Amino acid sequence: MADDLFALAKSAMRRAHAPYSRFPVGAALRTTDGRIFSGCNVEIVSFPEGWCAETTAIGHLVMDGGGRIAEIAVVAEKLPLCSPCGGCRQRIAEFASPETKVHLCDIDGGVRETVTMGELLPRAFATDNLS
Ligand code: THU
Repeated sequence: MADDLFALAKSAMRRAHAPYSRFPVGAALRTTDGRIFSGCNVEIVSFPEGWCAETTAIGHLVMDGGGRIAEIAVVAEKLPLCSPCGGCRQRIAEFASPETKVHLCDIDGGVRETVTMGELLPRAFATDNLS
């Protein structure tokens, strides 16, 4: 089921611009209405200005009109199981539900573990009172 997302995340990872860390990451997500978007990490010589693979994929989602994330796969060439960073958990949560699946992948083995956003980001910050 998530094999296609793993394959797309792996392809995206090959496009990473990671000349400083040499740590390519890829992500691919499926929306609840079946659209798929992928992304890689993009590093900048002014280090804090770079961003993560998940963030690139979310940018593509928003540019296609937005939507809700049903599942997302993440893979890193140099890590057997790549779990999204804290900032990306909050970014994914913006377009997800606690049931959204997060597939932690291994470059050779595919999906190694599937967790939920509720597990990755319990008690996420959320409010209706920002306007
Ligand atoms: N990175 C991601 O793309 N996603 C994550 O969830 C964790 C970290 C990237 C950022 C940076 O370009 C490289 O991995 C090393 O931290």
